[in-house]
Amino acid sequence: MNRTSMALSLAALLACATAQAASLKISCGAVGQELEMCRTAAQEWARKTGHEVQVVATPNDGSERLALYQQVLSSRSDKIDVFQVDVVWPGMLASHLLDLQPHAKGAEKQHFPGILANVTVGGKLVAMPWFTDAGLLYYRRDLLEKHGQKVPTTWDELGASAKKIQDAERASGNERLWGYVWQGRAYEGLTCNAVEWLASHGGGTVVEPDGKVSVKNPQAVKAVQTAAGWVGTISPTAVLNYGEEDARGVFQAGNAVYMRNWPYAWSLSQAEGSAVKGKVGIAVLPKGGTGGRHAAALGGQLLAVSKYSRNPEVAADLVIYMTSQAVQKERALKGSFNPTIAALYKDADILKANPFMAELHETFTSAVGRPATVTGAKYNQVSNQFWNAVHEVLSGKAKAEPALAELEASVQRLGRGGKWR
Ligand code: GLC
Repeated sequence: MNRTSMALSLAALLACATAQAASLKISCGAVGQELEMCRTAAQEWARKTGHEVQVVATPNDGSERLALYQQVLSSRSDKIDVFQVDVVWPGMLASHLLDLQPHAKGAEKQHFPGILANVTVGGKLVAMPWFTDAGLLYYRRDLLEKHGQKVPTTWDELGASAKKIQDAERASGNERLWGYVWQGRAYEGLTCNAVEWLASHGGGTVVEPDGKVSVKNPQAVKAVQTAAGWVGTISPTAVLNYGEEDARGVFQAGNAVYMRNWPYAWSLSQAEGSAVKGKVGIAVLPKGGTGGRHAAALGGQLLAVSKYSRNPEVAADLVIYMTSQAVQKERALKGSFNPTIAALYKDADILKANPFMAELHETFTSAVGRPATVTGAKYNQVSNQFWNAVHEVLSGKAKAEPALAELEASVQRLGRGGKWR
């Protein structure tokens, strides 16, 4: 081979390699360490495979993220290849997502069957499970001990205990301390909190699995009224604009006795520099009194490939890698993200880093689903109406009973008398 032809064939080889290396974009959430840990795993995959991947930043408010995704997907844009999808979205986004079954090669079978059922729409595996969530009660062990308080098991006990500690601490100069912080902004996070209030009072889940709208009932009224009573007393008025990160900010700075949040807040609260490191306990959220039960909203996130991706095969490979046992273990250890792979709940390292994953096992297995499956493509409309109605009551603009009666009528119109699909 002479020099010219050698140079030519080298160039051809290079061109070939470049043609095979895909450049992908993945969109992840941005709550806590989500974005950073998404980037680390994606880069690791890129290093192993020779492909390129860029992480697209998105708003940390899930409802805003959904709006963005709907825009991108409905225009059939190829701008984003891989999406982080909330467990309540498959019913709305399924038609835009690639069937991952042929790519998973059985890997999906490692995941919890309930979670798998949720990502299987019309017989297609529209996403791979990434982590699962349940609403938890974080508390300040040191403060409860100092003030002789037990971990509350009913909402009334929580209200009384939060007030007692808040008053006593403020009287002795801890003026910025609040009793209870949670997610009260008008968005999906409020739907999660409010479903917990309703379910824990035996007040249903807005729309029941059989399609019946159930939100107008005395227990639901009581549940929302109880929460409205916290605003401005044990919770700052600003809670009406709090998402997960706002609540965590207050709690982690040492300025709240109790907090409702997802598991991700655990590792951050125990990190270097956290004012509450070593002082935090986690318990199941309180019951709504007699007839009530402990109820945690079921949350979680998935990874899905857009049908409009120009590199669907490579994108599917990235998703299978990011949701694999090894990456889920890493995320559980560093970010306290609950795995969706059953075997990881027997992993000693994971349980040592996150004792609550074993202690509150039942909270995770019996978490309450939002009415996403039954309402399908209309879920976001239902949730939007629900969080708005609740927000009006919390902010004192409406009374619980008429607000929920009005909501019932309007959700019923959306569901055409139980015929949601
Ligand atoms: C968490 C949950 C998700 C929920 C969201 C609400 O990200 O995993 O399911 O919808 O919080 O803010």
